[in-house]
Amino acid sequence: MIKPHGAETLTPLYVSDDAERTELIKEAEQLPSVTVSSGAAASAVMLASGYFTPLTGYMNIAEATSVANDMKLLNGLFWPIPIMNIVPDEQLTEAVKNTDRIALRDPNVEGEPVLAVMDVSAIEILSTEQKDLIIEKTFGTTDPEHPGVPAFAEVGDNVLSGPIQVLNYSYFPEDFPGTFRTAVEIREDIAARGWDKVVAFQTRNPMHRAHEELCKIAQRKVDADGVLIHMLLGKLKPGDIPAAVRDNAIRAMVKHYFPENTVSITGYGFDMLYAGPREALLHAVFRQNCGASHFIVGRDHAGAGDYYGPFDAQAIFDDIPTDALNIEIFRGNWTMWCNKCKKIIMMGDCPHGNDDYFTISGTKQREILAAGEPLPPEIARPEVAEILMQYYQSEVN
Ligand code: ADX
Repeated sequence: MIKPHGAETLTPLYVSDDAERTELIKEAEQLPSVTVSSGAAASAVMLASGYFTPLTGYMNIAEATSVANDMKLLNGLFWPIPIMNIVPDEQLTEAVKNTDRIALRDPNVEGEPVLAVMDVSAIEILSTEQKDLIIEKTFGTTDPEHPGVPAFAEVGDNVLSGPIQVLNYSYFPEDFPGTFRTAVEIREDIAARGWDKVVAFQTRNPMHRAHEELCKIAQRKVDADGVLIHMLLGKLKPGDIPAAVRDNAIRAMVKHYFPENTVSITGYGFDMLYAGPREALLHAVFRQNCGASHFIVGRDHAGAGDYYGPFDAQAIFDDIPTDALNIEIFRGNWTMWCNKCKKIIMMGDCPHGNDDYFTISGTKQREILAAGEPLPPEIARPEVAEILMQYYQSEVN
């Protein structure tokens, strides 16, 4: 199987030894604590799961700046997005300032239980210039209207860096028991299935026919043994479809339209950044970590609005050193229904033109569903359309 990023084996930061974890949980209750941001909590879950191998914790300002500017950790290893724990002033109590070991509390679970224990190497103040630079390089904009920028811009200025040990996987195992998987578990599953070439598919949407066909085309073209559907289970911008609904829709689609035992349906616990090209790179890193040999990057991958060009997230893979990643990228062209071919096609694979292609914008799709009408069969499978319609109807009523 493909090696993890920058390591021989995965380095999950979850404390898997029961006795050690019980001790740490006890210790953590006595430690000064901070409640982290949703993004930092999600990063802890990714670190716990082995997806962020070989990181050992949160970055300091020098490392985050190096990642932002040069896509490199301070040791030179490729890394595309800063992984930081930034807290507002009110979290920085005297007790926290005066110790080097703290507990991190989870804002996404009722009662804010302890999520991790952190050895604080440094507490630094992020200047406005440093913050703007990190945001600009990561998102390509500092626009506060961007759906991912505020989650970074508005969390405060105090950067807590250092290694962590993680005590649980937040709300993900309980809310998505059949779907949430760590990178360790996915590697085990791939091995158990006897798959060698695996093509991974990132998604934050219910899978429409374009998504389905993209997976099938990629699997065929790279001659993969299986497809790893790997959906985001964390926080999304308003208007995006909740993970539980997507999960149902994806399962219905796979059950009816993929051959048995060719797809593994899984999810990971991270919030969506909407950082387009940079997020595509991070996506590739953690798909390599979970054992996929190939990763699909299609049109407007991890994008939002008009912040990125439709294929910027593919082009960025041309700008990184050739040895930055071992995973191979499958570049998907625009995929949609062709009225003349009477099937879903990938542009370039069919001789017809724009006038023959059938698409509906996301906004229009939401209007159709909210009106209680099914999406046209050119867009969604009926089983998927039904689940979405029920969801939108429950939202409207
Ligand atoms: S994303 O934010 O997770 O990228 P989405 O779930 O819609 O959003 O997309 C999942 C993957 O499918 C991405 O690689 C995206 O580029 C690709 N994709 C989605 N729709 C199309 C399409 N019509 N044509 C080509 N690629 C697409």
